[in-house]
Amino acid sequence: MTHDPFPQGTPPHPLGNPVARREGREKVTGAARYAAEHTPPDCAYAWPVPATFARARITGVETSEALALPGVCAVLTHENAPRLDSTDDPTLALLQEDRVPHRGWYVALVVADSLEAARDAASAVRVTYESADHDVRFRAGHPGLYEPESVNGGFPGIRERGNFEAAYAASLIKLDATYSIPPLHNHPMEPHASTAWWDDGHLTVYDSSQGATRVRDDLAALFKIGKGEVTVVSEHVGGGFGSKGTPRPQVVLAAMAALHTGRPVKLALPRGQMAAVVGHRAPTIQRVRIGATTEGVITALAHEIITYTSTVSEFVEQAAVPARVMYAAPHSRTAHRVTALDVPSPSWMRAPGEAPGMYALESAVDELAVLLDIDPVELRVHNEPETEPDSGRPFSSRHLVGCLREGANRFGWLPRDPRPAVRREGDLLVGTGVAASTYPVFLAGSVAEAHADADGGYRIRLNATDIGTGARTVLAQIAAAALGASSEERVQIEIGNSDLPPAMLAGGSAGTGSWGWAVHRACTELAARLRDHTGPLPAEGVTVTADTGQEAAAKSPYARHAFGAQFAEVQVDTVTGEIRVRRLLGMFAAGHILNPRTARSQFIGGMTMGLGMALTESSGLDAAFGDFAERDLASYHVPACADVPAIEAHWLDERDPHLNPMGSKGIGEIGIVGTAAAIGNAVHHATGVRLRDLPLTPDKVL
Ligand code: MOS
Repeated sequence: MTHDPFPQGTPPHPLGNPVARREGREKVTGAARYAAEHTPPDCAYAWPVPATFARARITGVETSEALALPGVCAVLTHENAPRLDSTDDPTLALLQEDRVPHRGWYVALVVADSLEAARDAASAVRVTYESADHDVRFRAGHPGLYEPESVNGGFPGIRERGNFEAAYAASLIKLDATYSIPPLHNHPMEPHASTAWWDDGHLTVYDSSQGATRVRDDLAALFKIGKGEVTVVSEHVGGGFGSKGTPRPQVVLAAMAALHTGRPVKLALPRGQMAAVVGHRAPTIQRVRIGATTEGVITALAHEIITYTSTVSEFVEQAAVPARVMYAAPHSRTAHRVTALDVPSPSWMRAPGEAPGMYALESAVDELAVLLDIDPVELRVHNEPETEPDSGRPFSSRHLVGCLREGANRFGWLPRDPRPAVRREGDLLVGTGVAASTYPVFLAGSVAEAHADADGGYRIRLNATDIGTGARTVLAQIAAAALGASSEERVQIEIGNSDLPPAMLAGGSAGTGSWGWAVHRACTELAARLRDHTGPLPAEGVTVTADTGQEAAAKSPYARHAFGAQFAEVQVDTVTGEIRVRRLLGMFAAGHILNPRTARSQFIGGMTMGLGMALTESSGLDAAFGDFAERDLASYHVPACADVPAIEAHWLDERDPHLNPMGSKGIGEIGIVGTAAAIGNAVHHATGVRLRDLPLTPDKVL
């Protein structure tokens, strides 16, 4: 970089410091208020009624019994609920018609004076249905499979380069393996919750969301009012993992109920209902074929996936997309097929596309390494592309090899006996595995306001969201650095409210980069204004607004991705089949790491999710009833502290001038990518058995 976008000569530079998160004390002392913790006067409580069929029409809703119960003030159904305008999210067309597109779809909403009364009355609402045969059985060869034009993220469904079939047929070394991942649920710690009220035509909502601007816009459209008539507050959010990236039923239902009753209404989704209505990761069956030379040069690569979507909306998990980025293969085919089943609508979850896709691809690369008897680190290094294979664009920066090498050093990868199933400790077999990770750099326009007050303080305002990542803290660091201040302490940050200047949601690992860009611009301009100013500032201070919409939307001539390498050591109990991860080490190259303390938390958080994906997390649809069988945290197993071993996250000092003024890449999701493959590869190294269906539970090991 020829020009450092931050002023020099102000050590210690606030960027890159391990600043503790600003709201940490508020959170751990319970002072931070989440969406369901606001109780306006006269607040009523809502409880939704889910459909009990997977495909049906409602023929009647009998509400008199429920309405007669003490404390019940209303029951909303498709017959009496406020009429909504349609938006481009059909999962929000709630209580509008008699169609039931999947089990768990909401068919009524009870509003009462207390939570208990609402819950009790919900079980007294009698819904009758005319049901039809449903199909929730996702399987290879499903007759409904079709090729979607585009997949999540807007990527083309199919890409072909060269002639895969011919090159594969001519390859001396061939690998053909199929992997599967079941449906997975986001399950943030804080369930989806909203508290809503109307005041003289103005709708105010406390909502647990990853981006209140989008929630505001959708509510305005649904209720046919101006955006200025809606305020959405998402001040503190207890995780989202993608499931709060778009408005969810609770916010629409709470606003409808508040409109219908004229009272504030609070709705927190019961954990057991979430699986059906907040999105989930659709299952994938992924076939990977790799043709290679005996020296380990990949000549042909195909990654073909099938997945499902719902009949309500088309969402296609873009699992074959990372294969377009990873390895130099002159002949390649990446393709998605999908079928619409009578299932809940899938959506974003924890690195959609990359997390499942890289499980299959990086497992297959490991299988190829075993076939070739080449070290899996070296095999990956052999196949580094010079430019992005799919697009031919140069990488803005790509340090996968550095991550593999430095990660291997730190992990103690070598010397490694590549033979499987030879390290025994009593009943245990022990092994190590490696996988690569990648995640794209997304950036979206945001508007930020920077204000200098007369007594030397600064205030930054934009509708960013802190979903637990430390956004406030890092934005204060970015602002301070751009202002030329030596510390972020004099910078106040106001986020989490749709009345603030509109900003990107906290998703796609794009929050900090997108918000920070706008904050940097506003603060840089403010600093210039202050430099030009002579004498004391006016009493009202100086305010500058910056909008990065145009630059952020511009297509980069560079392929921009973060990369990483994951290393795992596992032990497999040959008596019980239990797999335990002993060590996980992730080495990342994700641009400038702006706050090593909060960054480390994000990396190890992602790696923990990858551990869950590898070993414990699993859901499945009951074929007869069309319902998810795992609908609580007792049956859907996320890793507990005891499951999480020594996890280390490290990073290279990567400087990339083609991103944003901070030089940062997203770090929220790359930690999960590659972890499951590294663990699966370690299990193979430990046992000699290649398991290709996640999660790797004891029944599959034995
Ligand atoms: Mo994340 S799945 O992009 O919210």
